[in-house]
Amino acid sequence: SPLYVPPPECLLKSFTVPRRYLFGPGPSNVPPRILTAGSQPMLGHLHAETIEIMDHIKSGIQYAFQTQNRMTLAVSGPGHAAMECAIFNSVECGDSVLIAVNGIWGERAAEIAERIGDELHTVELQLQVFIALSKYKPVLFFLTHGESSTGVVHPIDGIGELCHRYNCLFLVDSVAALGGSPIYMDKQDIDIMYTGSQKVLNVPPGTAPISFSERACCRIFSRKTKPVSYFLDLSWLANYWGCDRKSARAYHHTGPVTALYSLREGLAILAETGLENSWKRHKDVAAYFHEGLERIGLKPFVEDKKARLPTVTTIVAPPGYDWREITGYIMKNHNIEISGGLGPSVGMVLRVGLMGCNSNKPYVDMILEALTDALKHCHKSKV
Ligand code: GLV
Repeated sequence: SPLYVPPPECLLKSFTVPRRYLFGPGPSNVPPRILTAGSQPMLGHLHAETIEIMDHIKSGIQYAFQTQNRMTLAVSGPGHAAMECAIFNSVECGDSVLIAVNGIWGERAAEIAERIGDELHTVELQLQVFIALSKYKPVLFFLTHGESSTGVVHPIDGIGELCHRYNCLFLVDSVAALGGSPIYMDKQDIDIMYTGSQKVLNVPPGTAPISFSERACCRIFSRKTKPVSYFLDLSWLANYWGCDRKSARAYHHTGPVTALYSLREGLAILAETGLENSWKRHKDVAAYFHEGLERIGLKPFVEDKKARLPTVTTIVAPPGYDWREITGYIMKNHNIEISGGLGPSVGMVLRVGLMGCNSNKPYVDMILEALTDALKHCHKSKV
């Protein structure tokens, strides 16, 4: 009998992906060198060369995070998978968890912890962290380093030490900031930290570097219950990434082999550039952009210059305009993606990401030109 579902017409034609400037909060553009790395021949996910690449990735993450943690690896999945990996492994049902909600990422972390059945507490201001730690006795404190929804970089110094005084693990989300804003995992007493491949590293989305301190490992490997996720269970991942003391790697899941080639290359570029040079470039380019914004009559959303995230800039949504028309106009006429707000900042801001290879002054000039053009041509109501 004939097939019930015929071959779909759409798949019988080829599809051409356009070239586009990705100046939103990620993914950022992928340079040819990383694209080439990702198109190397397929290998088995446990072949000796794949394992060698995984070892290089571990070293690259240790450099990028400034850590000597043995338990350093890349989760097969986006930043959200790393967020779940961090929380699922470090807390058990009923544990008290403290989350700093300073934008969307704290909200997401709370949503994840809630699913395990944790006793959840949130703080909005850093000043309250001390009080909340002593009051709620959490096992884990979550903080976002670079909040891409608000464009704020959060200071990290001193918080890890404070957490440890209360026997609490310090978890930092550095998805949007890592490589673009200074962070020192070991020196700043961070117990768990993760990032995504698709921001400053300029690697396609789908792998997420993560690292765990000895303190975090002690807690995780002495839990009473198994983590709710099999896929993200750190005992399995540790073995898969050669971070445990076993000599053989068992089959856990099939890793994204070619995505690992790309991640290795992204980390190699960061190593060649040098972390400090990368931090400085992101800072300088962001400052150049912020000056330019003021010049064309736009206002950075974050007033305190020191609190501005160098990777993702938030701009006060121009009064009288529909932000969707502006982002749509710039996409259509300039082939540039910029974005609106996210979560709590929807409708309040435009967001521009300049990350990794996209962090350069000629691109800033291009964006300023596109914004000027959009303000001239988009519909403005009286305010
Ligand atoms: C995603 O990471 C975003 O900030 O939009």
